[in-house]
Amino acid sequence: MREAILNRISRRTFTEEALNQEEISKIQAMLDEINQEAGLALSLMLDGEEAFANRSKSYGMFKNVKAILVMKADPSLENVEEKIGYYGQALMLDLTDMGLGSCWVAGTFNKDYVEIPEGQEMYCVIPVGHIDKVTMKEKMIRGTISKNRKPISERLTGSEDAPQWVLEAMKAVQLAPTAVNSQHPHFTYAGGKLTADVSGEWPTDLVDLGIAKKNFEEAAGGCFDLGNGAEFHKN
Ligand SMILES: Cc1cc2nc3c(=O)[nH]c(=O)nc-3n(C[C@H](O)[C@H](O)[C@H](O)COP(=O)(O)O)c2cc1C
Repeated sequence: MREAILNRISRRTFTEEALNQEEISKIQAMLDEINQEAGLALSLMLDGEEAFANRSKSYGMFKNVKAILVMKADPSLENVEEKIGYYGQALMLDLTDMGLGSCWVAGTFNKDYVEIPEGQEMYCVIPVGHIDKVTMKEKMIRGTISKNRKPISERLTGSEDAPQWVLEAMKAVQLAPTAVNSQHPHFTYAGGKLTADVSGEWPTDLVDLGIAKKNFEEAAGGCFDLGNGAEFHKN
């Protein structure tokens, strides 16, 4: 399994060292490529600290946030939320490979400090920056969460009949981030076909679906069709 999937955890405490020019250029190139391919409008904001300055808004969980990825797009784009999740997770894994820390954030920041052009909607932000060892606070947040990872049998209907490669890839799904660790995306293996869906009851469900699909693809080798309930095609 890709190291970045195993190593990634939400990082909320950054060092005071800002991203350097090389990192900024690399991230910008990644964003340009995604925007071109997927029709999204992802951008890098280097002075995102204000959005995380108000302790009551960020729940005091974030420290030294500077750069943030603004996860935005034209809301009329088809499957827009799933694409935000899918490509955001692709980015996050690459950022992990670069040794940088990051965290999906949909709620605990102040949206007023992020300017969104007319005709676009912001779905989330992803603070990104340099990190030290995992702090006690991060360990505590992560510790409570890891205990709450659902077993594969709860995330995969048909797990008794599923081949080993599906069960292996479901481990990557277990490790995928979801909003408030809800783990809503659900997979089904039936009649030799694998599909992924989500109820859509929660506002971030479709973003979570895109994230989970990306992790599954990375581990299994292959790709999903776009859409809720869509099918996976193995390489
Ligand atoms: C779409 C999405 C939105 C999230 N929003 C927030 C947020 O507003 N604040 C926060 O501290 N964490 C947020 N998270 C991070 C989750 O809490 C975290 O991914 C989850 O608890 C699992 O922990 P892990 O990422 O360390 O594996 C979000 C995650 C996702 C996928």
